[in-house]
Amino acid sequence: MEAVVIRRGASSPAVEELPRPDPDAGEVLVRTLRVGVDGTDHEVIEGSHGGYPEGDDYLVLGHEAVGVVADANGTAFEAGDVVAPTVRRPPADGPNEYFERGEPDMAPPEACVERGIDGAHGFMAEYFTSPAEYLVHVPEELAEWGFLVEPASITEKALEHAAASRSAFDWTPESALVLGNGSLGLLTLAMLVARGYDRTYCLGRRDRPDPTIDVIEKLGATYIDSRVTPVPEVPAAHEPMDLVYEATGYARHAFESIEALAPGGVAALLGVPDPWRFEVDGGRLHEELVMTNKALVGSVNSNTSHFAAAVETLADLPAWFLDDLVTGVHGLDDCEAAFADGDETTIKTAVQFAQI
Ligand code: NAP
Ligand code: BGC
Ligand code: ZN
Repeated sequence: MEAVVIRRGASSPAVEELPRPDPDAGEVLVRTLRVGVDGTDHEVIEGSHGGYPEGDDYLVLGHEAVGVVADANGTAFEAGDVVAPTVRRPPADGPNEYFERGEPDMAPPEACVERGIDGAHGFMAEYFTSPAEYLVHVPEELAEWGFLVEPASITEKALEHAAASRSAFDWTPESALVLGNGSLGLLTLAMLVARGYDRTYCLGRRDRPDPTIDVIEKLGATYIDSRVTPVPEVPAAHEPMDLVYEATGYARHAFESIEALAPGGVAALLGVPDPWRFEVDGGRLHEELVMTNKALVGSVNSNTSHFAAAVETLADLPAWFLDDLVTGVHGLDDCEAAFADGDETTIKTAVQFAQI
C-alpha cells in the first residue's frame, strides 16, 4: 500500500510503498478515506516537534483521519462503518494509569506516543489498524468532513477544561477572542459562534484581501490585526474578553492573554511554541490573575468523549464554512500540494486515499 512518510534528514514528505498492516486481536483494519494536515504536521516535517518510532528512520505522517472499517476482526464494529481514530497510544512499556482511566489526553509526553506525530506511525496510508477502543463512529453523511473530528475534538476538550475552571461561580461568557487565524483558530471560531457567544473576535497578522479574514467576517466575528492592535490593547480597542483561545503558538500570547481577559475570564492555551526567552512583568501579571480571578488553562490532545462531542458539533456547522475552510483535498499523485507552506490562499488541506 502507499503511504506518505517523512524520512529522517528529508525536508519534505514522500509517497512510499509499505506493507499493508494486519489487525491483531482486538484491532480493526481501516481503509483510509481522508487525512487532514495542520500546523503540527508542518512542525513534525521541520523536525521541531515529535519524533520517529523507535528503531525506524521514517514516520508515516497524519493524525487527523477518517476511514471505513475494512475488517472488523471480531470487534463490535461492522465492515463499512465510518470511523475516526484518536491519536494517543500507550508507550513501549505498555498502558499506564492515563490509558486505564480512558484519559490518555491527560498523560505527560513521556507516558504516551502520538500517531503521526511522536513515536508512532500515523494514518496517511491506504490502510491502518487500530484497537477498537480508539475508534469513534462518524455518521456516513459526515464522512467527507470526518478528518475534522480530531481538530474539533481538541477544542471540545479545551473548552470543557476552560469552563470547568469557571464552574465554581456563575460564569456566563458572552465575548470570546481566538488568537490565530490558522485552521485550528478558524474551526474554533466557528464552534464558538455555534455555541452562541454574542461577540466573537479573531486575531491574525494578515492584510486584506485574505480568505481567512473573509471567513472570520462571514461568521459574524471581528478581525483584529495584531500588528495594529497587540493582544494587551484589545480591551481598550474592543472589549475585555470572557474567553481567550490561543492558537498561534506565539509564546508571548500566553502571557498577553491575561491582559485581554475580563475579570473572571479564562484563557485556554493550545499553541506548541519553540523555546523563546523574553521579558514579562511577572509581578503585574501575577497580581492581575489573583486580583481579578482570572485563569489560564493549558490543553493538549483529546479523548474519545471529545471525539464523540466533536462529531455532534461538526454536524451542526454551516456547510459554507466547511467548504471555505477546506481549500484543498489532494490525491496521492499531488499530495505535496497538501503540505505547501506559506501560501495565504490555503487554509486547511487533506490528502484523499479513497473515494467517498
Ligand atoms: P497554523 O496553521 O500554523 O496557525 C497559526 C496561525 O497563527 C497562523 O495563521 C498565523 O498567521 C497566526 N499567528 C502566529 N503568530 C501570530 C501573531 N503574533 N499574531 C497574529 N497571528 C499570528 O497552526 P494550527 O494548525 O492552526 O494550530 C495552531 C497552534 O496550535 C499551533 O501551535 C499547533 O501546534 C497548536 N495545536 C495544538 C494542539 C493541542 O492539542 N494543544 C492541537 C492542534 C494544534 P500567519 O499564517 O499569517 O503566519
Ligand atoms: C494534535 C494533538 C496532539 C498535539 C501535540 C496536535 O496537533 O492534534 O492530538 O496531542 O498536536 O502533539
Ligand atoms: Zn493536530
